[in-house]
Amino acid sequence: MKSSQKVIDYLNFLLGGELGARDQYFIHAQMYAEWSFGKLYDRIYHEMQDETGHAQLLIQRILMLGGKPNMQVSEIHIGSDVPSMLKSDLELEYRVQEHLKEGIALCETERDYVTRDILVRQLEDTEQDHAHWLEKQLRLIDLMGLQNYLQSVTAEVNQQVNTH
Ligand SMILES: [Fe+2]
Ligand SMILES: [Fe+2]
Repeated sequence: MKSSQKVIDYLNFLLGGELGARDQYFIHAQMYAEWSFGKLYDRIYHEMQDETGHAQLLIQRILMLGGKPNMQVSEIHIGSDVPSMLKSDLELEYRVQEHLKEGIALCETERDYVTRDILVRQLEDTEQDHAHWLEKQLRLIDLMGLQNYLQSVTAEVNQQVNTH
């Protein structure tokens, strides 16, 4: 199936963002594991898998439209402690949210409604799941104080890395 080059180019731009999100969550999950914040590790590792899924769907769609996926990862921002990591992840989700909205508008102009629906589903994950969870964590830190919050997310992490 052919689509407009504009849609393919924009999907490639979005792909860079999803790959960046995946990498940022990957490193943040490892930092949480090192610090024994097991509850944050579990959630953020799961987000990494979600972002990988988003990237996979974009790659599949680009290929289906006859384009060439661009695996260039967009810039990432690694935090240095729990609040800065959560804030950096939330800023990332807000950026992705704005880019997805732009992409949805472009798909409507180009009358590519199937791509539009793929982006709408990613916007739902971004707004209602990823960003909302991060907003709630920052609110909890405000309400209960950092020490209490950190205590509430502490758990040992048992990572099983499969290398073969
Ligand atoms: Fe995503
Ligand atoms: Fe996300």
